[in-house]
Parts: sequence; C-alpha cells; structure tokens
Amino acid sequence: MVKKVGGLVASIVASHSPRMGVEENAPEFIKGLIDGLRELGRTARALEPDAIVLHSAHWVSTFWWYVPRHEIHEGICVADEAPDLIPGSPYRFKGEPALAEAIADGLNAEGIDCRTFDTPHWSWDYGCYVPLHYMDPASSVPIVLLPTVLCSDPEENRKVGRLVHDVGKDTGKRIVFVSSCALSHDVVRGPERWPTKERQSLDHKFIELATEGRVVELTAWLPEFIGTGVAEMGGRTISSMVGGIEALAQDYGELVGKQFGPYAQSSGSGNAHVAVFPKTSKGM
Ligand SMILES: [Fe+2]
Repeated sequence: MVKKVGGLVASIVASHSPRMGVEENAPEFIKGLIDGLRELGRTARALEPDAIVLHSAHWVSTFWWYVPRHEIHEGICVADEAPDLIPGSPYRFKGEPALAEAIADGLNAEGIDCRTFDTPHWSWDYGCYVPLHYMDPASSVPIVLLPTVLCSDPEENRKVGRLVHDVGKDTGKRIVFVSSCALSHDVVRGPERWPTKERQSLDHKFIELATEGRVVELTAWLPEFIGTGVAEMGGRTISSMVGGIEALAQDYGELVGKQFGPYAQSSGSGNAHVAVFPKTSKGM
C-alpha cells in the first residue's frame, strides 16, 4: 500500500472571543467573525484532513505540554472567565488517540516534555470550543488539542508548529493546524472597543504577510508583532501558527493565504481568521 502524504495542509489563526460562543446572543460587531469561521471550516474540510490540531490560548498549562488522547471529546463548555457569555454549551467531537500519542512522542523526542491523558472529567475551554463548533458543527474531522504552556517561549511554540507537521508526515496524517487566538490583544473594558490605530496597523501587516505567504519576513518580524502588538498569551499561540507556516514553506515553497470574514474588534483586541496553504493546494 502506498503511504499517504501527510503533514500540515493549512496553518490557521482563528479567533475565539467568548462573545461569539452563543450565536443568538452575539453582538452585531462580531457576527462577521462567526460567518468567517463557518467559511473557514468549509474550506478546511474541503482539504480532506485526517485531523484538526488546535492550539488553544485558553487551555493553560504551567509546565508541560499535554495532548488529550480521547476517542470522543464530550462535555459542556463553560467560559470560566465569562460564564455569562458561555454558561454551558454541550459538545461532542471525535478524537484521534493515535495522532495524539504520536504528537506527544514527537515533542518528547525533541526534548519538549509532553504528556497525554484521557480523563473523562476534563472539559474544553472556550478557545477550543468557539472556533471548532462553527468550523465543523457535525464533527466530521477528528480533533487533537494542545494547551498554551506558560513555561514555553514563542520560539518553542514555533518549533511545536513545525513538529506537528513532521508528525503528520511520519504518520501519513493530513492535518489542519489551528492556533486559536486573537492578533493584537491589549484588552480593555468595553466589548465594542477597537485596538489602537498602531495595533490595528500591526494586525493588518500580520494579515498581509501571512496571506501573501511572505514567510521569511513574517518570522523575522514576529517578535516585534508579539511585543508591540501585545499578542495573546505572550505570543505563544500565534507562534505555533507561524511555525506551521515555516514548515509548509520548507516543503512546498510558495504559499498563499486567505482571510475569512472581517477584521473585527473585541474589548480592544484585534481579531481575524487567516489560513495559509501551499500554493498548489486545492483549498485555494
Ligand atoms: Fe482569547
């Protein structure tokens, strides 16, 4: 049997404001982002991936990387920092235990301590739930999740993005990689408030570099974006997406990206869904 060509088929940043969590309660200014997640999901599923690997900004681990190896992810998502916005949304998604184990093995082999678990009492944070329930409402694609690790730096997160691609190649699994985070994230009180003009400019530059596949520039500029843009979770989550883009560029050369939905605000943060693919991908 010919081994399928695996690896990342797209590297994505998808935003997850809890105001998007329950659609009927979502404010007007954020509804475009919900529609964008649905369109992003249709495009991602059309790539016929074996799994979506999502790196969440709101599942926080202090020391180690973790990968859940559940056959089925089932539970009720409550946004612990905004339980009025997401008071209890049930979810049920397929997992991918073999890929979860392979990702843990791949990280450990590179000296990045990663553990697996399968307790049924664990439940998803809203950084996992919000994008995924719009992107794949029927759970047609198995899910593997990664936390934001406080003891990791952005460079380690870039490496994790690249390693997930390597694990996909080794296992023959086609992977859509999603970093679930905002762009600039200097949050303030006031749901409808925009980032400063300067940070909006930084966000638009990020979108431009990503959608034009300008990988070398994006990697070189990333520390400035993280610092001046006050990227979410110290830039850890956006860094794994950039690592995924670097891996795609190394194997496929020319890349191209697309923004799904608008650029929109939420409490001073800047939000956009952006996917980057090999230029030869049928996703474009
Ligand atoms: Fe967030």
